[in-house]
Amino acid sequence: MSVFDLVIFGGLGDLSRRKLLPALYSGFIAGRIDSSARIYLTSRSELQEDTLAWLTSIFDDTPPACGIANDKLTEFASMVDIVQLELNKDGGGWAKLADSLGSENGRPLVHFLAIPPAFFTSTCELLGAKNLNHAEACVVLEKPLGHNQATAAEINDDVARFFSEDQTFRIDHYLGKEAVQNLLALRFSNLLFEQLWNKQTIDHIQITIAENQGVEGRGGFYEGTGALKDMLQNHLLQLLCFIAMEPPARLNANGIREEKLKVLKSLKVLEGSEIDENVVRAQYTAGAMDGAAVKSYVDDIELDGKSETDTFVAIKANIDNWRWAGVPFYLRTGKRLPERYAEIVIQFKDVPHASDPKWHRNMEPNRFIIKLQPVDHLAMRMMIKDDQEDRAGLREVELNLDVGQTGNDAKRLGPYLRLILDAARGDQSLFVHRNEVDLAWAWIDKIVDHWKNNPGSLMQYQAGTWGPYEAHGLMKRDGREWYLDGDHK
Ligand code: BG6
Repeated sequence: MSVFDLVIFGGLGDLSRRKLLPALYSGFIAGRIDSSARIYLTSRSELQEDTLAWLTSIFDDTPPACGIANDKLTEFASMVDIVQLELNKDGGGWAKLADSLGSENGRPLVHFLAIPPAFFTSTCELLGAKNLNHAEACVVLEKPLGHNQATAAEINDDVARFFSEDQTFRIDHYLGKEAVQNLLALRFSNLLFEQLWNKQTIDHIQITIAENQGVEGRGGFYEGTGALKDMLQNHLLQLLCFIAMEPPARLNANGIREEKLKVLKSLKVLEGSEIDENVVRAQYTAGAMDGAAVKSYVDDIELDGKSETDTFVAIKANIDNWRWAGVPFYLRTGKRLPERYAEIVIQFKDVPHASDPKWHRNMEPNRFIIKLQPVDHLAMRMMIKDDQEDRAGLREVELNLDVGQTGNDAKRLGPYLRLILDAARGDQSLFVHRNEVDLAWAWIDKIVDHWKNNPGSLMQYQAGTWGPYEAHGLMKRDGREWYLDGDHK
């Protein structure tokens, strides 16, 4: 059971209300967090109601996975303190924080910066001034970490003046998802996969993170950010690293992060016309979701005029190393797609020779499908004999493993809870090293700069569809297509 002091800067904000507090409450109910842990929520404004009433109302809006038990909620509320302070000005609650937490007491002290990056520097400066960066303290940085390589480096440099790299935990909540961690277990504890995991047998890899929601009131942040920076620079590239990395000698923070870095270094840099050929960007127009009309992106964010922001991006990427040379990685993500799901498809090559000419009719390549959400599911699609035919016909079947059903669901931790507990334990395995951030931005910056210098590449797609035609074209011209099994709309 974990005991810690946790300060959430931006404690009354959106991330804290929708993700962090429901996760912490679930962790408390599941017995993962001791009732002597303390949670400080900082805010500029005063809370107008008592903490219990406020928690009740935010959990009404976003119920914790474990449901709500009233007596337990009262106990949880007694672990929470609201601290009123300015992120860039000493005074107010800073003295209270310093008095309670400024000296080492044997408990980990986690500062979670759920605030805009513009306030990272001043907050870290004040943490340093109050000795709240002592040896037992660490800082968790929520994305976006800058908006390009230079601004990310500035933030990392500023934070590094007060917290060492070992004390700095850059969160990517996708790495806290059970299925993503399972990727490492799957790859490195099964001989079956590892022997086939290379250019000799794999034709290509697809990674999709599809969202059915729009920008949900986050227009202020999203406009000018877009899908490439919001999702691909971090979540999708991290998934690509987990799929493509070499087996680490040790499955610890250094081992994993070193291997991920090698993948990022091997990503083929796209330049000039290669970007036009291999990257598709688009924005959703008005359409329909589940039969109901939905607005365009521009109307969603109530913009008076045009927007150049991508809400969809698809990329064909290549990794220039021995294992993956010539194997394309197709990545795509978008908002207002027909459904919310995240999936990795490993598509194997065709068999070298069809021993029976009839097999040509319906032979499909093997596909290994790793579903990350909404369910945690593994599937292997393979060919067997068609029992409807007398001889030699083939039929495609799926071997299914519902991972959620094989483990103990109740004991599973949501991504944010797992990552906060890891930070409290000082385990950086599932956090991103600053060099990874640097390389990922360097790769993305080339694309963004090209778009800036060559406007006019933004396509459109109707809300409720699978993106623009060009995203399908990206696959089609290679004789491939995005994989959609029967479960999808
Ligand atoms: C966040 C993005 O990092 O991830 C959001 O900023 C996106 O735009 C979210 O909606 C998706 O996360 P999940 O876990 O719901 O797939």
